[in-house]
Amino acid sequence: MIGTGYVGLVTGACLAEQGNHVWCVVIDEDKISRLNAGIVPIYEPGLEDIIKRNVSQGRLKFTTDTKEAVKNSFFVFIAVGTPPDGNGNADLKYVLQAAQNIGACMEGYKIIAIKSTVPVGTSYKIKTIITEELTKRGRTDIDFDVAFCPEFLKEGSAVDDFLSPDRIVIGTENDRTSAFLRELFSPYVQREPRILTVSISSAELIKYAANAMQPTRISFMNELANFCETVGADIEEVRRGIGTDKRIGPAFLYAGVGYGGSCFPKDVKALIRSAKEKGKDLSILQAVESVQAFSATLARRIEAEDTIVVNLRYRSGALGSINVTTLTYPKNLEGSITILGEKGTVKIGGIALNRIDTWEFDQPHPMDKEVEQANTNPTSVYGFGHLDFYSHVIEALKGNINGVVEGREGRKTVEIIQAAYQSALSGGQVKPCAMPR
Ligand SMILES: NC(=O)c1ccc[n+]([C@@H]2O[C@H](COP(=O)([O-])OP(=O)(O)OC[C@H]3O[C@@H](n4cnc5c(N)ncnc54)[C@H](O)[C@@H]3O)[C@@H](O)[C@H]2O)c1
Repeated sequence: MIGTGYVGLVTGACLAEQGNHVWCVVIDEDKISRLNAGIVPIYEPGLEDIIKRNVSQGRLKFTTDTKEAVKNSFFVFIAVGTPPDGNGNADLKYVLQAAQNIGACMEGYKIIAIKSTVPVGTSYKIKTIITEELTKRGRTDIDFDVAFCPEFLKEGSAVDDFLSPDRIVIGTENDRTSAFLRELFSPYVQREPRILTVSISSAELIKYAANAMQPTRISFMNELANFCETVGADIEEVRRGIGTDKRIGPAFLYAGVGYGGSCFPKDVKALIRSAKEKGKDLSILQAVESVQAFSATLARRIEAEDTIVVNLRYRSGALGSINVTTLTYPKNLEGSITILGEKGTVKIGGIALNRIDTWEFDQPHPMDKEVEQANTNPTSVYGFGHLDFYSHVIEALKGNINGVVEGREGRKTVEIIQAAYQSALSGGQVKPCAMPR
């Protein structure tokens, strides 16, 4: 077992429980003594006992030496992580590294079975890497087969899921590999023959499809819940009403904060990205992600807003956008207003709108000189404007001066803020002027 994390440890331990001799490759030496002592880094009911029992009976061994593990094994499983990279693709560096390590030390026929969740085509890449490593070593005489065996365990019931799975999917290229893997897994599905043998590409996609279908149901329910609020229906009643339909079923029909966990968000994203790379848009899944992004924010009962982006279209046709966040660490980088016009451009920036960064017009203007003096250097995000502002308000209230912004004009700002909330709730476009007054 290359990779002794969540999947690798559960798979290794449960395979040993069935009487197989299993070597688990661990990167961190310290982890080995803890695992040998039955100290399990994850909480999974039943796992600790299985590990202790199989370690003490000599069927489950932990090592940092890939060569030792590969030498002693007929099946070599790859169960390393495939976290998202910066773009949401599955980062394959651990998987490809594992393949290289296997190719560098393999001495005889092996079945390389991939358990990590990977985009379609990755198993063939793994095959190519192993072949290249064998060629480098002048060992093209060594035969091997690659298979893809997706893992469907749920964190929290992983042992039960492994020992009595709904189904086992085996993706292979030939009958020989399929027969060996069926024999390995058949004890877990003895009561019902639920082993599906499919092509490697289908198996790779089955895993992503399973992890995308459940979020799809969740996002669907969240979108409906939103609509329920608008029309006065009760999403719980709707859930019961549709969940009892056998064709729909009750699982993953709860509206709430959306989907989470270690796999759903990353796998939905990775599937969308991998399709995009092949020139295909998975539009339903893109919608699932947008509903998720929206629901996750809505359901978070935060006391203050953190981030908002508003796109505005003025009656005149002009476009504007507002981006605000209070999540700035350790201090504001900038508060800015940018106005782009046909005859000039102005950008006021700085941490507190304290600096005129750009002031450019096609014609000179009397204010140009004043602008040169306008930059200040405040010590905090509050700038120096508040005092001036308050004294101005006081003077206006006393009737000594006119306010810079008159009440009716100021109300437009409040309407825009209100419209932003309204749009967040409805998920659609809103017209500030149509807001209830
Ligand atoms: N956790 C789940 O619920 C779950 C369920 C189904 C599928 N999966 C998929 O299974 C894969 C593994 O997930 P996980 O949750 O077990 O990840 P994990 O991060 O818990 O474990 C991965 C392990 O691989 C080790 N590793 C990395 N490179 C290695 C190498 N070259 N040699 C040996 N060990 C190496 C890491 O040290 C780590 O311990 C992922 O692709 C994931 O998407 C996870």
